Amino acid sequence: MWRDTEDSYGLVSLSLHWLTALVVPALFALGLWMVGLDYYHAWYRRAPDIHKSIGILLFLTVLFRVLWRGLSLTPWPESSLSGFEQIASRITHITLYLLLFAVTSSGYLISTADGRSIGVFGLFQVPAAVTGLPNQADLAGQVHLILAITLVSLAGVHAIAALKHHFVDRDRTLLRMLGRGPSQPPPTPRRRPT
Ligand code: HEM
Repeated sequence: MWRDTEDSYGLVSLSLHWLTALVVPALFALGLWMVGLDYYHAWYRRAPDIHKSIGILLFLTVLFRVLWRGLSLTPWPESSLSGFEQIASRITHITLYLLLFAVTSSGYLISTADGRSIGVFGLFQVPAAVTGLPNQADLAGQVHLILAITLVSLAGVHAIAALKHHFVDRDRTLLRMLGRGPSQPPPTPRRRPT
């Protein structure tokens, strides 16, 4: 139920996947909106605080997801997938994880450039470990934006591929990620009466 098996995702992986799928586009939209805010806007400080807090929690969530994935079985790709599709989906998933880490880490480097720690919803502080590099905030900011656009675009392609599997190929790729258990094994053929 909680853990993944060879052909189904458990509750932990399912919850973390869909949480990430909701949070990433929301953080992206929030980030684009907040950088355009006027100094006197009511959300000028609050929006970046929320963006940073959720970003730190996203980093921790992805870290936990990767560790969890390492500790449990990973479902096999659907048997109907071609060799190319299996390799492409594996590369896409690994790239999505790398981008999730890279986007959140570059965001951290923007915020900590001036030596200040990051408060996460007033619950705990993440200290500024890397600070004062030449042009740190600007460079990290540019990298953060490019990587965030890449992440959201790749996640979009990934979502379209999942919908294609469901509606065109009619395989179980999306159903598995929606927690629909393994398909029933085909009935054993009955012997023709002699
Ligand atoms: C920012 C958004 C998203 C990210 C970062 C993301 C990331 C991932 C990752 C890393 C995996 C690999 C399995 C795992 O370790 O959990 C995965 C699997 C999967 N995702 Fe997403 N995903 C996103 C959005 C979506 C959306 C919107 C859909 C559906 C429309 C979707 C459908 C799937 C399916 C069906 C799988 C299972 C693929 C398989 O078993 O081969 N994902 N996703």
